[in-house]
Amino acid sequence: MTTEATRKIPKVCHVTTPSGGSVALPTICSQETFDDAINFKFSENDVIIRTYPKSGTTWMMNIIYLITHHGKPIPGGTFLEDHFLFCETSGKERLLHHQGSPFRFFQTHIHADHMKFNKLSKYVCVVRNPKDVCVSFFHHTNALKDLYGVTEMDFVSYFQLFVEGKTDFGSYFDHVTAALSHRDDANILFILYEDMLADTRSAVLKVARFLGQDYLEQVQDEDVMKSVLEHSSFAAMFKNKEQLSHTTRDDVCAVIRKGIVGDWKSFMTQQQAGIIDEMTRKHELDHLWKDFQ
Ligand code: A3P
Repeated sequence: MTTEATRKIPKVCHVTTPSGGSVALPTICSQETFDDAINFKFSENDVIIRTYPKSGTTWMMNIIYLITHHGKPIPGGTFLEDHFLFCETSGKERLLHHQGSPFRFFQTHIHADHMKFNKLSKYVCVVRNPKDVCVSFFHHTNALKDLYGVTEMDFVSYFQLFVEGKTDFGSYFDHVTAALSHRDDANILFILYEDMLADTRSAVLKVARFLGQDYLEQVQDEDVMKSVLEHSSFAAMFKNKEQLSHTTRDDVCAVIRKGIVGDWKSFMTQQQAGIIDEMTRKHELDHLWKDFQ
């Protein structure tokens, strides 16, 4: 029987994880593409952006592309997401044949316990506060509803899925906690979305330093830095949203919407915000945003 509650849950693809558990992924993934991703051997010239969805993945992709291309944006007619292969949807052949010099770029939302960090590659993990992630994910899900043939969700139902860890890619809190347990690994850079927004220039310098001394020196050239900042600004990315994702349709792009901190205030009741705050405290993540209260 299709109950109101089940009807409202967006379509997902459930895959079995290496530990024998199950996780929901978007319907564009399959068990086969998930397995291809977790078994893929990354190498030392791979840069992988690893995030929970809606944490600023696309923004970081653009920043990294710009840093490694002298501030020049992706060529016209190409898609940013093709430069950063989405591990869990691509399949073995595309993963194997993905090219890039000096780096191959990838992105993934797979949980760190399911696809382990390796010691060779460079990882950039963007972490964003869960209340804004929840609101952004809600909009993302509805923005793609026609494409994936799913029912429009109301915020109350979506909020429930989020706090129960039933959205695509599972629980935000487990996901972020697992990634952060690697915070001292030298080949992993953690960066907060809120810090990126508060001081994008410093974020660019941090990422460039992490990628290598050459890149740091390049962005220290004011012309290159200006170009990186200009092309990665919200306004510039919004203007060129067709290039961000293959799923952009009729002016609606699931990966660029408002780009602010605190949009949750327009959507959550005090009670809902309190529930997420409590979960954030329980998972000992609240200290991350102590400067952004
Ligand atoms: P909102 O929906 O809150 O606006 P992801 O790429 O991981 O899906 O993250 C998408 C979120 O990052 C969206 O948040 C989007 O607007 C925001 N974003 C994308 N580009 C940005 C930019 N240049 N500056 C600030 N936020 C940006």
